[in-house]
Amino acid sequence: MSDGVSATVNGKPVSMAGAGTRRLSELLRHDLDLKGTKVGCDAGDCGACTVLIDGETACACLVAGGQVDGHAVTTVEGLRANGSLSALQESFLRHGAAQCGICTPGMLVSARALLDRNSRPSRVEVQDALGGVLCRCTGYAKIVDAVMDVIDAPATANLRGGVGEPIRHVDGVPKVTGETIYGADCVPADAVWVRVIRSPHHRAGFKIGDKQGFVAGHPGLIAVFDARDVPGRNRHGTIAPFADQPVFAEKIARFKGEAVAAVAGEREAIMALDVRDFPVEWQALDHCLTPDEALGQGAPVLHETRPDNVLVRGLVRRGDPDAAIASAAHAVSARFSTPFIEHGYIEPEAGFARRAGDRIEIHGCTQTAHMNRDDMIGIMGLDPDNVRIVPSACGGGFGSKLDISWQPYVAIAAWVLGRPAAIIYTRGESMQSTTKRHPSEIELSVGCDVDGRVTGMAFSGTFNTGAYASWGPTVANRVPVHASGPYHVENYRAESVAVHTNCAPSGAFRGFGVPQSAIAQESLFDELADKAGIDRLEFRLLNALDDGLPTVTGQVFETGVGIKPCLEALRPRWREALEAAIAFNRTAEESGSSLRRGAGIGTCWYGCGNTSLPNPSTMRIGVKADGTLVLHQGAIDIGQGSNTVMSQILAETLGVAAEAIMLVGADTDVTPDAGKTSASRQTFVSGRATLKSALALKAQILRHANVSDKAQLTFEPGRITVGDDMATARIELADLPANEFGYVFMSEETYDPPTKPMDENGQGDPYALYGYGAQMVELTVDTRLGTVKLDRITAAHDVGQAINPMLVEGQIEGGIAQGIGLALMEEFLPGRTENLHDYLIPTFGDVPPIDSIVVEVPDGEGPYGAKGLGEHVLIPTAPAILNAIRAATGARLRHLPATPDRVLSAIREVDGHE
Ligand code: FES
Repeated sequence: MSDGVSATVNGKPVSMAGAGTRRLSELLRHDLDLKGTKVGCDAGDCGACTVLIDGETACACLVAGGQVDGHAVTTVEGLRANGSLSALQESFLRHGAAQCGICTPGMLVSARALLDRNSRPSRVEVQDALGGVLCRCTGYAKIVDAVMDVIDAPATANLRGGVGEPIRHVDGVPKVTGETIYGADCVPADAVWVRVIRSPHHRAGFKIGDKQGFVAGHPGLIAVFDARDVPGRNRHGTIAPFADQPVFAEKIARFKGEAVAAVAGEREAIMALDVRDFPVEWQALDHCLTPDEALGQGAPVLHETRPDNVLVRGLVRRGDPDAAIASAAHAVSARFSTPFIEHGYIEPEAGFARRAGDRIEIHGCTQTAHMNRDDMIGIMGLDPDNVRIVPSACGGGFGSKLDISWQPYVAIAAWVLGRPAAIIYTRGESMQSTTKRHPSEIELSVGCDVDGRVTGMAFSGTFNTGAYASWGPTVANRVPVHASGPYHVENYRAESVAVHTNCAPSGAFRGFGVPQSAIAQESLFDELADKAGIDRLEFRLLNALDDGLPTVTGQVFETGVGIKPCLEALRPRWREALEAAIAFNRTAEESGSSLRRGAGIGTCWYGCGNTSLPNPSTMRIGVKADGTLVLHQGAIDIGQGSNTVMSQILAETLGVAAEAIMLVGADTDVTPDAGKTSASRQTFVSGRATLKSALALKAQILRHANVSDKAQLTFEPGRITVGDDMATARIELADLPANEFGYVFMSEETYDPPTKPMDENGQGDPYALYGYGAQMVELTVDTRLGTVKLDRITAAHDVGQAINPMLVEGQIEGGIAQGIGLALMEEFLPGRTENLHDYLIPTFGDVPPIDSIVVEVPDGEGPYGAKGLGEHVLIPTAPAILNAIRAATGARLRHLPATPDRVLSAIREVDGHE
């Protein structure tokens, strides 16, 4: 292998000295500045760095520079055709196949290789060819559609981008060209680099040794920082009253992967650093990894102010559930458990900070600009005006990138050293140290009367909240409200407790604990329906919430309750599936086959936004003197499409084309606070703020032109024409004075959903609206092996009003893929599954065909009737899968994931083999 490399990259000859043993991914990104090639794992697991070498796919992270000497390399930057988007890139845009976009370069080059040898591939051929690239957002269906549709692409419809139109993502083009800038792509060339030193033990005392000596002994290192170097408060947390997580642990590390120090230095020195050389003495201590251990006698107490390791408890109580269950005609009870689930976004945490005088600027991936700023103000000991957060594109978040993680390390280094400071988490430290879905242990009892009406439910959930609070209080409060599912239950008690353990903090992850509780509730509803002798779908319809019926918190919605239409939408397919399963199983039994087929249903409801807490979003819209309409859109788009949704709401309200709107993305200096991207709140809350601001702007312009409310606006270069049936007026914008923001017209409006606090029994109005959904799964189980093959999923979701139906489908498909992972394969084991080959997430072959049914029951609060969707879509999938396995085999899966060994063991229990 030669030490120098001469190759052709995207058709151009390149030569690099001393590059023979370096990773190709590093050469492309660093030496050639081809940042379109993404790095997600550096281990060949995620495929994000896939490039073509002489037309064949390869993971650039596993290829040494010398291996491409004399060869041709193609990256995503080489896919354009004569400077224009290729048909393949156009097809990705047309199908919405790029959500966060971090996997898109790898997908595109893999598809290019396939299409070059097979211009009309089958669905299976596409899945096989792209199967080495992981996507955590899309559920893969739209990617396959896009690849298959390249040749016979239909003419593109001419859409303006109003509400209800399936327009392309407004920020889609750079995602398919590789030009979108993520956290690792924006680092200044003169940055120092930072590496965090982390605890190798679940709980340990530690003593840091000679920092200066360590730096002096390692050329290129510049400084070491620890708890003593935090300029402000060595503590952060997403919920201020519970803030408890140190930037650097002090004396005791409470989980494996917790930071104790950070080393800053020149890039090469940091890359070469072996963290085992760092001078620290560890003393491993007793630890507890489960709530059982943490609540047991003699367990180490993680926080002195939280006796018995209890972070917080939640409660919703109504009527007398114990009496109702005791006197029920039919009753069922069971215990369930679910494990830690890793978010598995393909982009590890990354970004940089720089000092500008007395200010610190932090650039990189996050789901929330202003909330991060609030934490960083405390950590840096600075005034709010002196901390600026500038989010990069975010390569997936799903809740975990709400919490501070990498930001303080680069901020402290940049502040002290006066140079930009950058960090890119390794896959291992991302998985070790950032938040997870709460493991749960749930006990549930449900009773119904002889007609199948649910009379009482009693729920108790224990959640492993890890070493620090993060979103534990939110999970503990949200779960009791939702554990009933979207059903009318008069006698109800749901108690929850979040317990500290020596694990990485559990935090926000799509659903905030509701997916876990839905598994128990939906499983037992199936069993109760069987006992009552009622079809499982009809049982749910009989008990479903409806307009005018109180929820378990006593809240009554007069309109907008959409669970019944969702269930009714499934009914035709449900009937067919049941009949098909009976026929299949009869034949299988007769032929001695071990295969059995079944169908199952799961449902969801989910309150959009914060639980009984203020939840405002503010949107600013301005008109420049040249006629440009500008939307300051601070609702961070992590791939779910808020840039597109807000543009469509504004376009609809002002009667302009969505593509004519200039977006100013989240930045605490230039966008008002739109709140965090979580809890399915952006389409609802920020969408409503956008609508409110658009209406205010329109009113201002109409007032200025002195025309009626019915007049239409036409934006043109340098002027707005305002007209109705009676008159037309022209506003010459250059004649108007610009305000401090440079706008001649401007509106800034805030919307905060109306909620009411809950009382000591959890009674009240915690959310202004809920979204609803129902999914049915058809599957086949091999009863000899315990393997489960998903055949089809049909998903009906009430979104109130689909602002963009294509984005709605993308959310449904992506959420279902994550639900499949939760049901069948995902289990994070602290210290054991800290990479993407031991921790499995669904690939192309794991996701079956999905039929999405968009149900629209408008809500009075939502913008144009729209409701949130992002969290909802994951919730019904796992219970529907478990119910389908039970329908096929009789096996009751209580403990997830339902891996083949667990399925087999549950089948044997039914057969009486155990
Ligand atoms: Fe594939 Fe986000 S779009 S990982």
